[in-house]
Amino acid sequence: MSLILGIESSCDETAAALVTSDRRILAHRLAGQEAEHRPYGGVVPEIAARAHVEILPALVEDVLREADVALGEVDAIAATAGPGLIGGVMVGLVTAKGLALACGKPLIALNHLEGHALSPMLSQPSLAFPYLLLLVSGGHCQLLFVEGVGRYRRLATTIDDAAGEAFDKSAKLLGLGFPGGPAVERAAAEGDAQAVPLPRPLVGSEEPHFSFAGLKSAVLRARDSGRYGPEDIVASFQQAVVDCLVDRTRRALERSEGATALVVAGGVAANQAIRAALTDLAAVYGLPFVAPPLWLCTDNAAMIAWAGALRFEAGLTDGLDAPARARWPL
Ligand code: KG4
Ligand code: ZN
Repeated sequence: MSLILGIESSCDETAAALVTSDRRILAHRLAGQEAEHRPYGGVVPEIAARAHVEILPALVEDVLREADVALGEVDAIAATAGPGLIGGVMVGLVTAKGLALACGKPLIALNHLEGHALSPMLSQPSLAFPYLLLLVSGGHCQLLFVEGVGRYRRLATTIDDAAGEAFDKSAKLLGLGFPGGPAVERAAAEGDAQAVPLPRPLVGSEEPHFSFAGLKSAVLRARDSGRYGPEDIVASFQQAVVDCLVDRTRRALERSEGATALVVAGGVAANQAIRAALTDLAAVYGLPFVAPPLWLCTDNAAMIAWAGALRFEAGLTDGLDAPARARWPL
C-alpha cells in the first residue's frame, strides 16, 4: 500500500489531496477562483497563477494535518505537469518538486488527462480495464479507450472548441454569466429544445471527432435574429450538444471492442440531460454507465493523487527535471 500527495493547479482550481493505492481518500481540499475570474467572463491565466501561489501551500498543510500524516510518511508527490495554463501548471509542479526534494521522495509528473481518465476507478472499485471514456470539460473533449495505466488510445478529439467551452461561450453571448454550463442548464429547463433550428456539427461522419464552433456561431445568429427568447436558444443549444455527444460516442463505442463500461468525466458531465442521454446509449450496448461523483468529475487533486498511486505502484516515477507542458496529448 502506498500513500501519495497529489497537487492540481492547471486551470482555476487549486487543490491538494492524500490518497492511498487501496482507494482511500484520506483528505482533499479544493479552492476555486470563480469570484476572481467572474468580472472578466472567463479564466484569466495570470490571475489564476498568482492565486495558486498564494493558496496552494496552505492546502497542502491542511490535508497533511487533517489526515494526521507527516510529509516524510508520503511515498511520492504527484502533480499535474500539463496540459493546462502554463503559469498555474508551473506553480503546482515546482511546489511538488520542492516537497519531493525536502522529504527525499520521488516526484510523479502527471498528465492531467490521465488523472481524469483514471478517476472513475477511485469511486467505482468494480470498474475494470478496458473502458471507453468520454472526457468533456472546459478545456477538453475527447473519447479515450482506456486499456490500462499508461495505455490510452485516443479515438477522437475536438477539431475546434471543447464542449464546456461551447457552453461557456454560448452563455456569454446570451448574458447568462460565468461559468456558463450550470447557467445554461438552468435556463434550458425553462425553454423549448425544439424551438430553434441549430446544426449538429460532424454528426454522422466516419471518425468520431467533435466540433462545436459552428454551433456557437449559430447561437449568435439566433440571438441576433431577434426571433427567439434566450431560454429557447439555450434549450435548443443543449439539445444539439447532447445529440452531438451521443452520436460521436456511439461511433466510438462501435470501435471499442471488449469495453466493460461507458464512462464520463470532466465538468460537463454535471449536466443531467447529457448524463441521461449517455445512460440510454450505454444501455443500447448492454454496458454499465459510470460517472464519478461530481466533485471527482471536475478538476480536483484526488484524481491526481490516485493516478499517481497507480503510476507509483507500476514503478513509474519522474526526475526533478520533469518539464511543465502547456500542451501534452495523452
Ligand atoms: O472539468 P472542469 O471543472 O474544468 C476543466 O475545464 O478542466 O470543467 C469545467 C467546464 C466548464 O466549461 C463548465 O461550463 C462546464 O464544465 N460545466 C457544465 C455544467 N457544469 C459545469 N457544462 C454543462 N452543464 C453543466 N451543468
Ligand atoms: Zn480537467
